[in-house]
Amino acid sequence: MKTVMPVTLSPNSLPEGAPAGSVPAGIGSKAAQSGEKKDAGSLREAHIKRIIILISGRGSNMQAILEAGLPVEIAAVISNKPEAKGLEVAAQHGIATAVVDHRQHASREQFDAALAEKIDSFQPDLVVLAGFMRILTEGFVNRYQGRLINIHPALLPAFPGLDTHEKALQEGVRIHGCTVHFVTPTVDHGPIISQAAVPVLPDDTPDALAARVLEQEHLTYPEAIRWFAEGRIRLEHGRVKSDILQASAPALRSPWAA
Ligand code: GRF
Repeated sequence: MKTVMPVTLSPNSLPEGAPAGSVPAGIGSKAAQSGEKKDAGSLREAHIKRIIILISGRGSNMQAILEAGLPVEIAAVISNKPEAKGLEVAAQHGIATAVVDHRQHASREQFDAALAEKIDSFQPDLVVLAGFMRILTEGFVNRYQGRLINIHPALLPAFPGLDTHEKALQEGVRIHGCTVHFVTPTVDHGPIISQAAVPVLPDDTPDALAARVLEQEHLTYPEAIRWFAEGRIRLEHGRVKSDILQASAPALRSPWAA
């Protein structure tokens, strides 16, 4: 089998004049672990981030996040479907689980209100959508502005919505991938944190392409969460600000004439 080389594209550096302290020393650092004395401001920045993961199904991205050894506290995994396979996986990892069943709510607004109430009971710093198959209301999205992220199995803004791998094959794109982004009220849209690209191969089926992209999702999502937890990315005026240096990875060209 041919090995294909993915390329991860990370955000640009912080603009000039960005505060030098924008990378908190705290998360997972020796200072944080030793309980070294800090002023109130840096303590606020250095606290371990609490994360909630929302799922609807198998939860393979959730599992990758749970197993990535991130410097975060995973407060709970919440599903809108009681039968979601990912709930069992979360429980096996000793993570609290909860279900807010959308079928028990008369309207989208009522469901989102119940979901927000459950999420807020855990007081999270970050809400991670990992295969959460619900369209969220504007009110819900705005409530978590700057702390709600999603992963989408395509290189946005190409192919929002469902069946991204089929669409990529139909369009004949040579490069496909995944995107981690802050969520806005528009579905599969929002300031992009990172993307990983993979080649589309001549004999690809939607399943083969999906598997190649999913492998990258499992790397890209935990990495983005790590950056958030370490205070290295944030949403500012609708743009992602970060101190992650632009990757010096080689370009991905596809097809590649050897
Ligand atoms: C992933 O492809 C993700 O990008 C998309 O839904 C799928 C969920 O898969 N939003 P899993 O539940 O994480 O395995």
